[in-house]
Amino acid sequence: MKAAILAKFAEVFGDNEGTRAYFAPGRVNMIGEHTDYNGGHVFPCALTMGTYGVARKRNDQTLRFYSINFEQLGIIESSLEDLKPYKEANWTNYPKGIIWALGQRGMELPVGLDLLLYGNIPNGSGLSSSASVEVLTGYILRDMFGFDVTNQDLALIGQFSENQFNGVNCGIMDQFAIAMGKEGHGIFLDTADLSFTYAPIKLQDAKIVIASSNKKRGLGDSKYNRRRSECETALADLQKVVDIKSLGELSEEAFEQYKYAIQSDVCRKRAKHAVYENQRTIHAVEALQNNDVKLFGQLMNASHVSLRDDYEVTGIELDTLVEEAWKVEGVIGSRMTGAGFGGCTVSIVKNDVIDTFIDSVGKAYAAKIGYAADFYVVEIGDGPRML
Ligand code: GLA
Repeated sequence: MKAAILAKFAEVFGDNEGTRAYFAPGRVNMIGEHTDYNGGHVFPCALTMGTYGVARKRNDQTLRFYSINFEQLGIIESSLEDLKPYKEANWTNYPKGIIWALGQRGMELPVGLDLLLYGNIPNGSGLSSSASVEVLTGYILRDMFGFDVTNQDLALIGQFSENQFNGVNCGIMDQFAIAMGKEGHGIFLDTADLSFTYAPIKLQDAKIVIASSNKKRGLGDSKYNRRRSECETALADLQKVVDIKSLGELSEEAFEQYKYAIQSDVCRKRAKHAVYENQRTIHAVEALQNNDVKLFGQLMNASHVSLRDDYEVTGIELDTLVEEAWKVEGVIGSRMTGAGFGGCTVSIVKNDVIDTFIDSVGKAYAAKIGYAADFYVVEIGDGPRML
């Protein structure tokens, strides 16, 4: 891969003298969905799929970006003197957002750069291709310009740029999972204080299979922001009767005791999901530590039901993939993963039924939805690195 992207860089930008090549993973969340902006727990892991980048400093203020995934867009040019998001700038608003966010923290780039990217994460699939580009860009700039930031800072800078530059009010999960990834491990992160532990994901005779619905998300970002504000409304109502800073502080029992304070039925359902999902995530990691993969899978299934019925972020595509998965003997657990409204599902599938799984879920999906899903048997990989 390194040789191929270096050769492409030379083709696009003239030569590849003085370049460096890098990689940052994508991520999949095993459980703990829509809890990260509610002060709850998440349990994502980095993938071996991700984004490759080749970069080189320039000696002027120009920024030139090229993506092998969007060749039809050609080179997209910008300048350090004009760090604003533009619709026509397309995907380059992500790396530009990082340059802007570093500048906001006093780390300004003295010169511009040429940057070529190639991602083997399906775009817009819910495996965080955008967070992967953000963390990769931060990692490259730290290396090239010697900025004094940790990988955890790179995650926070990525989230800040996504919130303030690209207008999506996302939580910290995606950027954190990518910046801190560890081969073979999930990251059990408490988003209330960013404390975390690595938990080995040992699935014995099973693997993680991701199914991409291939439904483009469209209005997803605005619906995401709406869920977030519904949770904030529920929290404000609860704070009139109980002293909490986030929904993540409530046990299921405490939620049942105080839920009367939430005025709207919709906001009550959203808060219920956030509270119960947080507790499920804690139990799921305990189950994994006890080698109880079966219980882990049952909690994944319960997570999907809650996202479908209370949080209402699944839709017919994700529900079909999951409900068909549940029918296959040898599927230990299956749920939507990521923001929802399209994107992917994650399943734990016994090795000897993976082919059957892909075949039967794939056929049922195409018959019902009218187009095909894509399947990926994935491995858990490390965080960002130089190649
Ligand atoms: C998106 C966001 C994350 C998280 C998930 C839902 O991936 O970027 O911060 O909120 O949705 O769990």
